[in-house]
Amino acid sequence: MIDEKALFKLSYGLYIAGVEWGGKKNACIINTAAQATAEPNQMLVTMLKSNYTTELIQKKGSFTVSVLSLATPLSRVADFGFRSGRECEKFEGIAHGVDGQGNPYLAEDMAARMSVSISQTVDLGTHLLFIGPVTEAEELSAQRPMTYADYRVLKAGGKVGAPEEKAEKKEAKYVCSVCHYVYDGEIPFEELPDDYVCPICKRPKSVFVKE
Ligand SMILES: Cc1cc2nc3c(=O)[nH]c(=O)nc-3n(C[C@H](O)[C@H](O)[C@H](O)COP(=O)(O)O)c2cc1C
Repeated sequence: MIDEKALFKLSYGLYIAGVEWGGKKNACIINTAAQATAEPNQMLVTMLKSNYTTELIQKKGSFTVSVLSLATPLSRVADFGFRSGRECEKFEGIAHGVDGQGNPYLAEDMAARMSVSISQTVDLGTHLLFIGPVTEAEELSAQRPMTYADYRVLKAGGKVGAPEEKAEKKEAKYVCSVCHYVYDGEIPFEELPDDYVCPICKRPKSVFVKE
């Protein structure tokens, strides 16, 4: 039995695979980048054979991976993921750097970038799996990397952030209307006994107001 929903539980990041070949710079969004081994550092990506980026990477034998962050505008995903470099110049007007092999990477609003030199290519039918040693790696910002799940939430107009922070802010505060003491005990305020009194001004529970 294969339940497709089980595969959606795999977590992914969001990346841009970049390459330059024969004077043409191109790149596309991918979610299938991963570190394959740590010693030596090797990475893998799986790329649709029909993508222009894949064609150029195969010819070049190397590529870059830029790691999207939560600061990356969603328009970047559209710029690099919803159109092909066969029909446009994707890097026109986009700030970018170039690695030691001449391959472009995105410089702004990215969490990190790395470069890979291909040592093995595996034919997976619809995709090519490229594997190889990491030749360069640089952290570009302290921003949290954008996950594929974050992207889906943002695309739907939602917000991503630390859920525990929001939960804390939502919790109601009880303040003594006489001395402005803010109740911070372990027991929820509603569950305190009726004879509870403010520890500062000693007024009864009834003078507390919910904020
Ligand atoms: C969220 C998202 C994830 C994607 N993941 C991959 C991927 O892992 N591998 C791949 O080859 N294409 C992936 N794509 C598709 C390419 O980005 C897309 O086909 C792009 O237009 C190809 O451009 P190109 O022809 O200039 O290479 C993804 C697209 C999106 C929007």
